[in-house]
Amino acid sequence: MKYNAGITGIGISLPNNVLTNKDLENMVETSDEWIVTRTGIKERRIADKDTAASDISSEAAKKAIEMANIDSKDVDLIIVATVTPDMMYPSTAAIVQNNIGAINAAAFDVSAGCTGFIYAVTIAKQFIETGFYRNIVVIGCDILSRVTDFTDRNTCVLFGDGCGAVVISRTEEDGIIGEFIMANGAGGNFLTLPAGGSRMPSSFETVEKRLHYTSMNGPEVFKFAVKAMPEAAIKLLEKYNLNLSDIDYLIPHQANIRIIESAAKRLGISMDKVGITLDRYGNMSSASIPVTLYDSFIRSEIKQGDNILLVGFGAGLTYGAVLIKWII
Ligand SMILES: CC(C)(COP(=O)(O)OP(=O)(O)OC[C@H]1O[C@@H](n2cnc3c(N)ncnc32)[C@H](O)[C@@H]1OP(=O)(O)O)[C@@H](O)C(=O)NCCC(=O)NCCS
Repeated sequence: MKYNAGITGIGISLPNNVLTNKDLENMVETSDEWIVTRTGIKERRIADKDTAASDISSEAAKKAIEMANIDSKDVDLIIVATVTPDMMYPSTAAIVQNNIGAINAAAFDVSAGCTGFIYAVTIAKQFIETGFYRNIVVIGCDILSRVTDFTDRNTCVLFGDGCGAVVISRTEEDGIIGEFIMANGAGGNFLTLPAGGSRMPSSFETVEKRLHYTSMNGPEVFKFAVKAMPEAAIKLLEKYNLNLSDIDYLIPHQANIRIIESAAKRLGISMDKVGITLDRYGNMSSASIPVTLYDSFIRSEIKQGDNILLVGFGAGLTYGAVLIKWII
C-alpha cells in the first residue's frame, strides 16, 4: 500500500539586513549594471553575526508547523538541507529538534548543495509513502555569507542568506507527484568549500590562503546548470509518463536569471509562469526553492490544484526535480 504525501504548511525566515549591489560597489571592483545584467540580482539578505542556520531554521519550521495545524510533538522527522550547518556536528536538524520542542522526532542534515531541498523532499516523500512516518519537517537553510569571500567579486555578488521550511504529511490527495535526483561527482571540483573537513582541516595556512571560503568555476557551473535543470525536468516527466503541458508553474533554483530563462525556454514555459526571487534575495542555496515557493504562494501566483515543478542544481555536482500538486 502506498500512502499519499503533500505539503501542508510552509514558512520562511529571512535576515533583515539588506546588502545592495551599490553596497558591493564599495567592497569590490564591480557595478550594479554588471551584476544585474550578468545575474539578475539586485540585493540580498545577510544574517547578523549572532544568527546561525539553526536559528532561522527553527523560526521557519515553527511557521510551517503552525500552518500545517499540527503540534511540534506530532513531527516524526526533521531534515535540514544545508551546506552551512551551525557546526560540523551535531546536525543542525538535531539543534532545531530541541529548539522547537519536537521531542518525538528523528533528525538529520542533507548535504546536496543548492539541490538540497529537492533531495530532502524526495527523502521525506519515501518515508511518508511507505507509511513509516506521518509528519516530516523539511528545511532548506543556508547562511552563505559565512563562507563567502567578500574580496572575491566572482562569488560575493551572487549569494545571500535565508531559510524556507515545509511540513510534508500523509494526505488524502497526492501532493507530491514525482521526483528525480541525480549527481555528477566528476564535476565536484567546480564548486567547493576546500578547507574545514577531513581532507584539509582548518589551520592558519588554510585561512591565510582563504580556503575556508567558497571556490567556484562560474562558467563551468553555468554550463552544467543550463543542461541539468531541463534534463531533471524531462527525466521526471518521462518517469511518470507526464508531459510538459502537465506543469502549471516552475520554481527553479535562483542562481542566475540567464540560467533560469534558458531552462524555461528549453521547457517551453513562459517567464510569467516562473517564480523569481533572486532579484531580491540572490542565491540562497538550499533556501532558494522553498523561499520562492512561499513567495509565489503569498503573491497568489500559484493556486490550489496547480502542478508546480521545483527544479535545481548545485554543489556535488547535484541536480534534481520534484513535481508537487499545491494542496494548501
Ligand atoms: C558567475 C557568473 C555570473 C559569471 O558570469 P559570466 O558571464 O560567466 O562571466 P565570466 O565569468 O565569463 O567573466 C566575465 C568577466 O567579468 C568579470 N567579472 C566577474 N565577476 C564580476 C563582477 N562581480 N563584477 C564585474 N566583473 C566581473 C570577470 O573577471 C571576467 O573578466 P575578464 O573577461 O576580464 O576575465 C556566471 O558564470 C554564473 O552565474 N555561473 C553559475 C554560478 C552559479 O550558479 N553558482 C552557484 C551554483 S548553485
